Amino acid sequence: MAVVFDYGFVVFCFVWLLRLSGRVNSEPAEDKQALLAFLNQTPHANRVQWNSSQSACDWFGVECDGNRSFVYSLRLPGVGLVGPIPPNTLSRLSRLRVLSLRANGLTGEIPSDFSNLTFLRSLYLQNNGLSGGFPPSLIQLTRLVRLDLSTNNFSGPIPFSINSLTNLTGLFLENNAFSGPLPSIADGLLDLNVSNNDFNGSIPRSLQRFPADAFAGNKNLCGKPLASCNPFFPSPAPSPSENPGPNPVVKKKSKKLSTAAIVAIVVGSALLALLLLVLLLLCLRKRRRRQPSKVPKPAATTTRSLSAEAGTSSSKEDITGGSTEAERNKLVFFEGAVYTFDLEDLLRASAEVLGKGSVGTSYKAVLEEGTTVVVKRLKDVAVTKREFEMQMEVLGKIKHDNVVPLRAFYFSKDEKLLVSDFMPAGSLSALLHGSRGSGRTPLDWENRMRIALSAARGVAHLHVSGKVVHGNIKSSNILLRHDHDACVSDYGLNPLFGTSTPPNRVAGYRAPEVVETRKVTFKSDVYSFGVLLLELLTGKAPNQASLGEEGIDLPRWVQSVVREEWTAEVFDVELMRYHNIEEEMVQLLQIAMACVSMVPDQRPAMQEVVRMIEDMNKSETDDALRQSSDDPSKGSDGHTPPTESRTPPGAITP
Ligand SMILES: *[C@@H]1O[C@H](CO)[C@@H](O)[C@H](O)[C@H]1NC(C)=O
Ligand SMILES: *[C@@H]1O[C@H](CO)[C@@H](O)[C@H](O)[C@H]1NC(C)=O
Ligand SMILES: *[C@@H]1O[C@H](CO)[C@@H](O)[C@H](O)[C@H]1NC(C)=O
Ligand SMILES: *[C@@H]1O[C@H](CO)[C@@H](O)[C@H](O)[C@H]1NC(C)=O
Ligand SMILES: *[C@@H]1O[C@H](CO)[C@@H](O)[C@H](O)[C@H]1NC(C)=O
Ligand SMILES: *[C@@H]1O[C@H](CO)[C@@H](O)[C@H](O)[C@H]1NC(C)=O
Ligand SMILES: *[C@@H]1O[C@H](CO)[C@@H](O)[C@H](O)[C@H]1NC(C)=O
Repeated sequence: MAVVFDYGFVVFCFVWLLRLSGRVNSEPAEDKQALLAFLNQTPHANRVQWNSSQSACDWFGVECDGNRSFVYSLRLPGVGLVGPIPPNTLSRLSRLRVLSLRANGLTGEIPSDFSNLTFLRSLYLQNNGLSGGFPPSLIQLTRLVRLDLSTNNFSGPIPFSINSLTNLTGLFLENNAFSGPLPSIADGLLDLNVSNNDFNGSIPRSLQRFPADAFAGNKNLCGKPLASCNPFFPSPAPSPSENPGPNPVVKKKSKKLSTAAIVAIVVGSALLALLLLVLLLLCLRKRRRRQPSKVPKPAATTTRSLSAEAGTSSSKEDITGGSTEAERNKLVFFEGAVYTFDLEDLLRASAEVLGKGSVGTSYKAVLEEGTTVVVKRLKDVAVTKREFEMQMEVLGKIKHDNVVPLRAFYFSKDEKLLVSDFMPAGSLSALLHGSRGSGRTPLDWENRMRIALSAARGVAHLHVSGKVVHGNIKSSNILLRHDHDACVSDYGLNPLFGTSTPPNRVAGYRAPEVVETRKVTFKSDVYSFGVLLLELLTGKAPNQASLGEEGIDLPRWVQSVVREEWTAEVFDVELMRYHNIEEEMVQLLQIAMACVSMVPDQRPAMQEVVRMIEDMNKSETDDALRQSSDDPSKGSDGHTPPTESRTPPGAITP
């Protein structure tokens, strides 16, 4: 025993003495070879003279760890490195933490083997001539904290999977040729600059807290803090339930403070977050022991990104109920699903924010194989995995031409995803309200009727066959096929949020009783559908501020106008160019008004609404039949049916 101890002690002293003397060949031999290979293959200025008979740890720009056992950082800024970064060189620095090659003349793509630099925390490649798409290899570097690719010649979209970089606090992409939509990036970001690129679309809400000059110089980017995307819908103010992002103090400070202060803030908030997390976990465990069936909502601080799952710890396992690793990372497809991708594919997909709703954010995800799907990330889900799965089972069974099919779901502690089909023709909201007054083709009456009927059929199917309350009927959830048949989406999700979360739906569509009971019912769906019909008829969005007085909703506005016998004023001016539709418009208005009755019991059931709209169509078909059967006698009595009916008269354009 004593002998072993002595031996160990002697070795320890020996190593310690060697380290003190410093001059030894204690150096990372493999890292040295990698560095030499890099320099030999990259033309550079004379300043970098690495003497291969010295320790690599003493070389210019190289820093080793305390033990001199691996290269910790490599900083070669402005040393005239020219040409592409040779593959299989730097990537062999297997434990590198910091790499700075900024302000050189590097060109070409970042080698794909950079994905081996898994310990890398900071990567500074700004001010070079590097090109290619956003390097997929960087997505693997999940420990990255700062990534600077600014002032290069990069192009193409930023993959949604950038969210795998959960520890990223600084992202600098300015002065490149990146394009496409900006993905929503997890909340941890403190510094962002994407200015002077070709990004387009709207700025995702999670990034709206950054200053305008972080986005400047992208011609087609819009939304807060830049100009609003659509003059009819000014940039929405964040709703109270929504996380407004990190507190503004941090944001303002991070712009001006020194690096030291920023580091202090980062470390401070990381510690605080950790402390909160520990407290939370303790609380959760306690609560769990007491009421094992109830799984509490995940805290905002732990909700990060899809791939945060990759690093699940055993404590998370406790909370998710001990499912195995394999199960947890699986996307569950419904029967009859036509897709074959997995979660990894989904993470790698390029994604565009379609909209941020009260229950989560929807993305259009284009997978590498070319499939396009819609992914909805649900937030604040308040049910257990089992309850979630049960509701999914109900929703997955619903199959109808006028209901957007749900294809798959994913449930883990940090992330709840729903995958459904992408409807390329967009939503009724976009069609009805998008770019009005700019010479667009208005939505004609025939198509509005078609949408009304098909959407009603979709909702009625949910009610009758699915026994499911839609719970969130609004024009942005009515999606269109190319033939203008409508499909309802975003249905049946209310049970996932429990009663603790109020049904925080768009106010204009909410039935009066829902405000108090906080419960959606078949009848409250009928009310919302009535508002939707009014929206089709008036062309006014129910949540639009242009209804005159503050606090007047669309049904009340329509009632007041109709009461004053200005019925014609109610209808959308865009419908005024179609002839012979007044009678139908009034009929549909009557159906809509029945639906928005204040008293739930006075509202018709959804299947009755379908029948009433069908009857309108029927009388129309009857008319058509009568006209055609009249045809033979047409010549004799000289009566000609108006041929231009329901087509816009070319002459009368505004
Ligand atoms: C490299 O280092 C060795 C030992 O320190 C020294 O003798 C030699 O002159 C150096 N070579 C060059 C080219 O500087
Ligand atoms: C130094 O290396 C020894 C063995 O190689 C290891 O036990 C020790 O933890 C290392 N120390 C540091 C600070 O890396
Ligand atoms: C990168 O890592 C993979 C797997 O660990 C290995 O097979 C490959 O050879 C490595 N590449 C380089 C350039 O080191
Ligand atoms: C992010 O940082 C935290 C704290 O610094 C660390 O514990 C965690 O492992 C990091 N995450 C990844 C994916 O490296
Ligand atoms: C940037 O890349 C484009 C092609 O992607 C190329 O045509 C252009 O010459 C490059 N510009 C510079 C300065 O390297
Ligand atoms: C953004 O640009 C791409 C082409 O680079 C285009 O396909 C896409 O529709 C644009 N998106 C928006 C919202 O303008
Ligand atoms: C972003 O970069 C641009 C161009 O380099 C610069 O003018 C702007 O001040 C930067 N904005 C922020 C917030 O760093």
